[in-house]
Amino acid sequence: MPEEIKTARRKRVLSLIQPTAVPHIGNYIGALRNWAAMAEEYDCVYGVADLHALTVRPEPAVLQKQSMEAFAILLALDLRRGNNIVFVQSHAPAHCQLNWLLNCYTQFGEASRMTQFKDKAAEHADNVNAGLFTYPILMAADILIHQADYVPIGEDQKQHLELARNIAERFNGAYGQVFTVPEPFLGKIGSRVKSLQNPTQKMSKSDRNPKASISILDTPEAILKKCKAAVTDSESIVRYAEGKEGINNLMTVLAACTGSSYEQIERDFAGKGYGDFKAAVAEAIIEELRPFQAEYKRLLADKAYLEQTAREGAEAAQRHAMRTTAKAMKKVGLWGT
Ligand code: TYM
Repeated sequence: MPEEIKTARRKRVLSLIQPTAVPHIGNYIGALRNWAAMAEEYDCVYGVADLHALTVRPEPAVLQKQSMEAFAILLALDLRRGNNIVFVQSHAPAHCQLNWLLNCYTQFGEASRMTQFKDKAAEHADNVNAGLFTYPILMAADILIHQADYVPIGEDQKQHLELARNIAERFNGAYGQVFTVPEPFLGKIGSRVKSLQNPTQKMSKSDRNPKASISILDTPEAILKKCKAAVTDSESIVRYAEGKEGINNLMTVLAACTGSSYEQIERDFAGKGYGDFKAAVAEAIIEELRPFQAEYKRLLADKAYLEQTAREGAEAAQRHAMRTTAKAMKKVGLWGT
């Protein structure tokens, strides 16, 4: 075998999800589905970003429960196959260690430009904590510590990834090659799934209107009900066009679940009303989620397995993360490292 092939490492993929609520179909179509598709071909590190969730001060018992459930969701998607690592962020403390270093290599001005910080600060005006501000720097640590080549995310995280790239380039410029400069990976379709009730806004976990989003653990009845209640327009023609954000969004979800193109969907629903179309969207979501939901229920009943797997994930993630952390610590001149 030629030397370059023997030594070439497989590209690494990394992404995390916050356990602030059950993931919705936006998280699923924009991110989780792509994680699963990449789990075979790449060396992947996937995780539950519980430290990020602290920025909105969740109830401790709720955070614990949701972190375990989010971990079970990742396992139910079979992300742990091969040599992949699935872990909970706080279980690998090296992430916080590198986070501090990176804080010192991020400018206040560039962190201030993050639009998600501005949005979240407005949303949580009574708790604009420093963690909310430095949130993207911890995210940069998550990514850079594992030398990720690709980061599958939805569009809302693109600016954070750009920041991670800038930090990596700055650090490498000062100290030589330490971090891989990561690329965002956005799916061709569904990187910004919209709210079912206000289709000009993204579907969001923090939306207080339960009809605005479909959780990946919703029952078939709830999925049908929410699809039927989705805001559309008065034209009654299923076509992808400007000014038809509600229909465009449902077409995106249907296309993502079935693999049909927009043209195909338009042909399939020519002469049919929105009622039939919405029922078909609901059916496609239900079918897409059915195997995952069954596996999730099975795993959640086995707490001992979840705890054991989390311990294994923590060890693997920490070991892997320490390689880069040790190198970065040495480079910046911390004595004895
Ligand atoms: P989080 O938990 O908000 O979202 C998880 C993933 O879902 C994507 N997403 C969407 N995609 C399409 N349409 C939507 N409406 C939609 N809403 C959310 C997000 O882009 C994300 O990919 N900060 C991250 C978690 C994180 C992380 C990381 C991600 C922590 N460290 C390192 C990547 C790499 C977050 O809050 O995602």
